[in-house]
Amino acid sequence: MSHRAQPAPAAHGVAGAAGNAPFRVGLLGHGTVGSGFSALLAQRADEIERFNGRRPVISGILTRSQGDFDEILQGADLLVELIGGIEPARSYLLAAMRAGKDVVSANKQLLSQHGEELFETAREHGVRLRFEAAVAGAVPIVRVLEESLSATPIERVHGIVNGTTNFILSEMYNGSSYAQALADAQAKGYAEADPSDDVSGRDAAAKMAILARLAFGSPVHLDDVHYEGIEHLHGDDLQYARELGLGLKLIGTAERRQGGLSVRVYPALLYSGHPLASVQGPFNAVTIESETIIEITMSGPGAGGPQTASAVLGDVVSVMTGGARPPAPPLELPIIKDVDSAFYVHMEVADRPGVLAALMHALGEHGVSIRSVVQRGMDESARLVMVTHAVPESSLRAAIDQVAQLDFLRGAPRTIRVIEEEFI
Ligand SMILES: NC(=O)c1ccc[n+]([C@@H]2O[C@H](COP(=O)([O-])OP(=O)(O)OC[C@H]3O[C@@H](n4cnc5c(N)ncnc54)[C@H](OP(=O)(O)O)[C@@H]3O)[C@@H](O)[C@H]2O)c1
Repeated sequence: MSHRAQPAPAAHGVAGAAGNAPFRVGLLGHGTVGSGFSALLAQRADEIERFNGRRPVISGILTRSQGDFDEILQGADLLVELIGGIEPARSYLLAAMRAGKDVVSANKQLLSQHGEELFETAREHGVRLRFEAAVAGAVPIVRVLEESLSATPIERVHGIVNGTTNFILSEMYNGSSYAQALADAQAKGYAEADPSDDVSGRDAAAKMAILARLAFGSPVHLDDVHYEGIEHLHGDDLQYARELGLGLKLIGTAERRQGGLSVRVYPALLYSGHPLASVQGPFNAVTIESETIIEITMSGPGAGGPQTASAVLGDVVSVMTGGARPPAPPLELPIIKDVDSAFYVHMEVADRPGVLAALMHALGEHGVSIRSVVQRGMDESARLVMVTHAVPESSLRAAIDQVAQLDFLRGAPRTIRVIEEEFI
């Protein structure tokens, strides 16, 4: 006898209220994630019905060539948006929530640019807006921040939230050039034909805006996130990092600073004991820090159709079981732009007496002090690699602008932030 003949009673109000009627999921978008989601839902429907009492079914699919939005909306208990981009995804989600429907989306660009409008609409209409798959793919960081740690005052969230750049940097660390590593990422399907959102840091910035909103409850727009990518990194920066025993990662940071919030994405050197230093290849990882919980790190596949689809289905099940609530009203914390950091500074200079003293003087005028220096001779010039103590970024930039004018410089200085904490 099939176990569907006698469904288990629903444990929560949402499923119980509708008895054993199927739970109708309207699907907007049927590409990489959408098709993975509909296949996974069909595969998992028996099991979901067994513990939930209702069977999830796809009640309609919208793509550019099939389906009618209004009909799909009317015939669904919940809509899943897997179209991507701003429009028409935004209008569809707003219309669904205004019609009293819960929604699930994987759309980081939309949430990082129109999050407040979506949250406000969800609140106003008392519906759930779930978006686990918008950040870090299969890593359940959204739910952990929204639910498990909702009573924990979070100080900082550090993340590797872009698998493409982590793969490229891992390959460069092992000796590949940037161009080779990018071509390899494209061949393996980790990078799109146009990788600009990934390598510029914009994709990670969108995800950090979403994580910051969840961790601190304050609105953070993509435009509030200062981001830098990995295109300007040189192979020899990675070689120096290896020599210094440091990892080099594209890091997103969202943290409380000076009574406000700082959210940024930047390549950073990390000591080998840092929980993010060992994350290799296309994986994502997020570390949450708080006095109460010390530190928690979660890692796993950051993208991919089946992995992302599994996060989307998890959201659907969470709504079915009544496990999610409408978003809370926002707090308003100011965005802090100028934050302290230690820096790695790479310079090529003429190899002649007095150069180091002149450099130290120029840096010292802006309050930049040096923690360590390595010097290498190269024919007529020398390569200097310094690590500074923590200094406001604006002071470092002013110092580097002044240094760049010195006549013994052989090229533009390069800088990379250093995350100084050593975890034992
Ligand atoms: N791919 C990943 O690994 C991944 C990971 C995390 C998050 N995400 C997010 O998941 C979402 C979907 O990504 P994806 O990779 O599955 O995208 P995709 O493969 O490009 O699929 C997009 C789907 O949306 C449909 N669509 C596009 N414009 C539409 C319109 N105007 N009206 C109706 N349907 C439209 C497309 O229809 P046609 O079939 O007619 O073209 C297609 O079925 C995005 O928000 C993305 O950021 C993706």
